[in-house]
Amino acid sequence: MTFLCIGHRGASGHAPENTLKAFEMAIEMQCTWIELDVYAVENELIVIHDDKLERTTDGHGDVMDASLSYLRSLDAGDGEKIPTLIEVIELVNHRACINVELKGAGTAEPVSQLLIQLCQRGWQAEEFLISSFDHPELAKTDKIFRRGALFAKKVDDYFARTTRLGAYALNLSMKITTAELVRQAHDQGLIVLVYTVNKHEDMQRLKAMGVDGIFTNFPDRFPR
Ligand code: G3P
Ligand code: MG
Repeated sequence: MTFLCIGHRGASGHAPENTLKAFEMAIEMQCTWIELDVYAVENELIVIHDDKLERTTDGHGDVMDASLSYLRSLDAGDGEKIPTLIEVIELVNHRACINVELKGAGTAEPVSQLLIQLCQRGWQAEEFLISSFDHPELAKTDKIFRRGALFAKKVDDYFARTTRLGAYALNLSMKITTAELVRQAHDQGLIVLVYTVNKHEDMQRLKAMGVDGIFTNFPDRFPR
């Protein structure tokens, strides 16, 4: 399989993260995948990384305590708004595949519902990967969608966990990625995606290790 370039929160090294501008830029920089983070607020899925608003917007407080109208009034950088998931998917419009990372509680069901509706309108389930560090939440997603089990820290039982989830991908922090773990994952039939890889030399090293793709804020540094 080809080595995948996944625009992490879009081309977030070049444009405000998780904004339409960052996703468009990732596609311009030839990403075949983009990654984004979602929370559910008032029956809408919104695309933002932190559970607090301060770092990436001009707002204040917790994302989950905010009203949808307040969230949508904020500046997420360069005059961009916090996008909804459907806005991002419509912008991408089949030009790249989309990794939806479940960040907020209660996101598995609405994400599944939205993506199922899209699959009834011509999208393919394989155009999406749903991932999360919150494995119990991830386990609630509809089984037609591929699951990526995210790990930030080393554990002793990666494959018991991926098997329980029926995972398609093992999504690892670069800090815990080893050649041996990649080999074991492949033996289990998993692909391995590594975050967040911003240096060209690390991209080359991971590619040589057999990793299947990397999440990067700088898709322009991807080895081609
Ligand atoms: O999905 C890869 C990566 O996005 C996971 O960590 O904190 O950047 O969402 P984080
Ligand atoms: Mg993420």
